[in-house]
Amino acid sequence: MPRIIIIYYSKTGNTEKMAQAVEAGVKSEGVEVVTKPVNKATVEDMLAADGIIIGSPTYFGTMAAEIKALIDKSVIYFGKMNGKVGAAFSTSANLGGGNETTVLDILKAFLIHGMTIQGETSGGHYGPVVLGEPDEKGKQECQQLGKKVARLVKKLSSK
Ligand SMILES: Cc1cc2nc3c(=O)[nH]c(=O)nc-3n(C[C@H](O)[C@H](O)[C@H](O)COP(=O)(O)O)c2cc1C
Repeated sequence: MPRIIIIYYSKTGNTEKMAQAVEAGVKSEGVEVVTKPVNKATVEDMLAADGIIIGSPTYFGTMAAEIKALIDKSVIYFGKMNGKVGAAFSTSANLGGGNETTVLDILKAFLIHGMTIQGETSGGHYGPVVLGEPDEKGKQECQQLGKKVARLVKKLSSK
């Protein structure tokens, strides 16, 4: 049974709300999912999952240090993450405040791990991004991300 882990950092709750919507999307596809704040997540959680979705607020145009620290720790499993599915999402205060660069920075780390990333034709092309708290449209995009990752994980896990 394929499984997905959603890991996020959230100081004021906006990223957490996005993570909850992503989780709902994964669940709607019947895929096992665990959602953890980054201080409860381990690199072993990442290794055990078929799909890894990371959410971070935008801090100075990139991910929060807590998320970067976990990604840096994941180097001990370098070479073992190959082919897992990866995705990312972010919230920032401002339009042009760096939410897309945050998502891309997380995706770059996934690519370096040899992971698989699916793009998006509508909405956030690299992954959902919102300003502040996610509104209905933002939540929809997060749910869609969860669904999409779940479908891809199912497809890649089927023999
Ligand atoms: C240290 C710090 C750096 C930030 N840097 C940026 C930034 O570069 N661009 C931006 O638009 N917002 C920035 N913000 C605002 C947050 O990205 C925004 O408030 C976000 O919605 C917070 O998410 P959270 O509620 O999950 O903590 C920053 C906030 C903090 C605390």
